[in-house]
Amino acid sequence: MKEKILKTLNEQMNAEYYSAYLYLSMSAYADRTGFKGAAHWLLRQAHEEREHAGKVFKFILERGETPVFKDIEATPPEYGSLEDVFKKVASHEHHVTDLINAAASAALDQRDHAAYSFFQWFVDEQMEEVSIANDILGKFTAAGNNPGILLSLDAVLGQR
Ligand SMILES: [Fe+2]
Repeated sequence: MKEKILKTLNEQMNAEYYSAYLYLSMSAYADRTGFKGAAHWLLRQAHEEREHAGKVFKFILERGETPVFKDIEATPPEYGSLEDVFKKVASHEHHVTDLINAAASAALDQRDHAAYSFFQWFVDEQMEEVSIANDILGKFTAAGNNPGILLSLDAVLGQR
């Protein structure tokens, strides 16, 4: 495999682990502030991110290369509200979409069609992630500080 593609894959694997870390920290915030539904949603999200990392891990091995584990960046120390949490979820998913698009472009540049095809799954996944994050953010923004609406939003997230 071309060096550049292997580097991109390893960066993506590490980025997915960071996403899991980030969502776990958000889940803890939601749990501590009494939003058990949002805590559950974010925990599931963290689990999905570990699965994404696992997909990249497996692909690297299947190509006969070695996955490289780097330091995982620290998560934000605190969050201001659930709206703040989902603002950060949405902006993080936009960032991950940029990473995936760059990875797919690099694969195409290097004529690594297996990697290009592999990244397409993530392209589709990111479209869904961004859309869901924006949707939830919109609801929290509309809810403002209304406790009744916040609690019913929390109940909906708890059904994930
Ligand atoms: Fe992901």
